Amino acid sequence: MAAIIRVLGLALAVHAARSDTCDGTCDARTINGSAACGLELLPWDGSFGATVATPMRDIVDAPCLHDAVRAAFAAHRLLRWSGEALAPDDELAFMKLLPHDGSPGAAHGPQGVAGVDAEKYARWRVPARDEILLQGEGFVPAGHHGVPEGHLSSGKPIKEWHTDGHYEAREPSIATSMYCVSVKPVGGDTLFMDARVIYDELDDAERGVFDCADIEYSRSPVSMHSSGYRALLEGESAASNVGSLYAEGAGRARAPGATHPAVWVLPDGDGRRSLPLAPMWIDKLNINGTTLAGDELQLLVAKVLARGERSLKTYAWTPGDFVVWDNRALLHSATPNDGFSPEGLRLLHRIRLAGNLAPVGPDTCAR
Ligand SMILES: *[C@@H]1O[C@H](CO)[C@@H](O)[C@H](O)[C@H]1NC(C)=O
Ligand SMILES: *[C@@H]1O[C@H](CO)[C@@H](O)[C@H](O)[C@H]1NC(C)=O
Repeated sequence: MAAIIRVLGLALAVHAARSDTCDGTCDARTINGSAACGLELLPWDGSFGATVATPMRDIVDAPCLHDAVRAAFAAHRLLRWSGEALAPDDELAFMKLLPHDGSPGAAHGPQGVAGVDAEKYARWRVPARDEILLQGEGFVPAGHHGVPEGHLSSGKPIKEWHTDGHYEAREPSIATSMYCVSVKPVGGDTLFMDARVIYDELDDAERGVFDCADIEYSRSPVSMHSSGYRALLEGESAASNVGSLYAEGAGRARAPGATHPAVWVLPDGDGRRSLPLAPMWIDKLNINGTTLAGDELQLLVAKVLARGERSLKTYAWTPGDFVVWDNRALLHSATPNDGFSPEGLRLLHRIRLAGNLAPVGPDTCAR
C-alpha cells in the first residue's frame, strides 16, 4: 500500500531542470497530466501529493510562480522537493508564500502549555528564527544554527494520528513543513492519510453525527493505543506512552483547547469535506445537544480513522528533502520511535506558521 516515494525521487533527479523562463508571464508547462503554470510537478499515485522538480529557491525568487505554487499546494495538499540545501531563511521564505497569519507577534506553533511542554518546545527552536523547531532523535551537537547541544527525542513509542495545531488554536496552522537535515540508518518514517477520504468513507449515520458536530479539544495529551487511532480506554493498561516530549503533561489536569466543527469544508482547491480528527487531544463531541466523550467517543473516532488506511503513504526521509503539507486535508503520524538504530541522528526542521482561517463546517448546520 505504501507508496515507494524514494523511487520517484531517483526518477526525478534526472529531470530537475531549472525553471528559468519566468519573466512575469507564466509559461504553462504540463508535466505528466498536471498543469501548473510554470512549475514542474510530478503528482503521486493516490489522492494526494506531488513532487516538485522546480528548485525551491527558484520559486521563492520568481513572484510569477507564487500563485502557481499556492495552486499546486491546494490541488495536491502535499508538495515535496528533494536534494535541497536550504538555509533557515529559505525554509521560512517558502512557508510565507502559503496562507498564514503574518501579523507581528503571531504565535507560531506549537506553543504547548507552560509548565508542561512549552519549555521543551522553546529549547529546540532556532534562536534567531524561532518559527523553526528541531525534531528528531539522537544527540544534536553544538553549532546547529545556535541551538544548544543535547539529546533530542520528540517521538512516541506508538503511532499518533493528528493534524498540527488543531487542538490548540482557533485558527490552526494551515501548512506544516519538514526539512530533513540528517537521518538514522533505521527508523523515523512519517505516515500520512487523507482526511477527505476519511470523510468520504462515512456512512449516513456517521455523517449524521459528524456533519454538524463541534469537537472540544484539550491541550493535555493522553496515552494512546498502539494503532494511533484512539486513546487508551478505561481499564486498558495505563502505562504512559505519550513520549518524552509530553511525559510531564500526562496525567495532569486537562488544559482546555480549541473548539472546532468536526468537519472542515475546504475553502480552496477541490472544496471537499475533510474530517481532521486527533484522538490524543479530543475531549468531547457535541451534536444536537448531546455530548459524546470518553470510551464511546474514542471508539467512534478509531472506527472512522482506520478507514483512512486506504490512502496511507509512508514517507522515508532522505537528507535534503523538504515536504510541506496541508493540515486541513491530511493527517500524519510519526512511526514509533522504538525502532530506531542507536547510531546516527534524525534531525528535521519543522515550521508551522500561525493560521489565518478558522475551520468552517457545512453551511446547512445551525450553530
Ligand atoms: C512521464 O510519464 C512517462 C510515461 O509514463 C515517463 O516515461 C516519464 O519519465 C514521466 N516524466 C517524469 C518527469 O517523470
Ligand atoms: C442532528 O440534527 C440534524 C438536523 O438538524 C440531523 O440531520 C442529524 O442527523 C442530527 N444528528 C444526530 C446525531 O442527532
